[in-house]
Amino acid sequence: MQKPIIILNYKTYLESSGDKGRQLTWDARDVMQETGIRIIVCPQTPELFHHKGYGIEVFAQHVDPIEPGSHTGHVLPQSLQFCGVTGSLINHSEDRRPLEEIKKCVEVLRKHGMTSVVCAESIEKVKEVSQFKPDYVAIEPPELIGSGIPVSKADPGIVRNSVKAVTDPNVKVLCGAGISKGEDVKAALELGTVGVLLASGVVKAKDPKAALRDLVTY
Ligand code: G3P
Repeated sequence: MQKPIIILNYKTYLESSGDKGRQLTWDARDVMQETGIRIIVCPQTPELFHHKGYGIEVFAQHVDPIEPGSHTGHVLPQSLQFCGVTGSLINHSEDRRPLEEIKKCVEVLRKHGMTSVVCAESIEKVKEVSQFKPDYVAIEPPELIGSGIPVSKADPGIVRNSVKAVTDPNVKVLCGAGISKGEDVKAALELGTVGVLLASGVVKAKDPKAALRDLVTY
């Protein structure tokens, strides 16, 4: 079975902010080095620079499809690169964007050689956004986000059918929502995805490093 990609979204939890967030990035780096499994962390935008140089890939939680100029409050791709960021989530369920903006975000990340992970809440949305040729599409049913009920078990059909809905072999499918254990990752791989997107199962765990180690034991 191929090795999964694990994308750990820090969201805006206090447990993944400040020094706790940097410790989590150290922990993720250690587990990645122990196992050879690709782990990517997604801290909050204001803290991205503090996660540079840890020897682990860092993605943003959002990027704006802008060029340098007068865009107060927006997130410039080049600024993310200055922070050592190599990709970004787009259209997360907690930060939904219009379809045209999603398309432009994928394009601007591609222009700068950065990885795009577009989140989708349904199979229909997976079909729509995969047309923009992002690097990854992550199917995440909103009702399962934060529930602790893994999508790969609660609704395997939505995962399997999302994989089928993506016809471009260059667009890889991830799944997220409720993922917390190695068995959830195994189920996701068996359903045809290349990995998972998760947050609370690790960030809110009593021992996040132990939770990460469990996650990569499948
Ligand atoms: O970005 C992943 C996130 O939406 C899933 O949340 O807490 O169910 O792992 P969680």
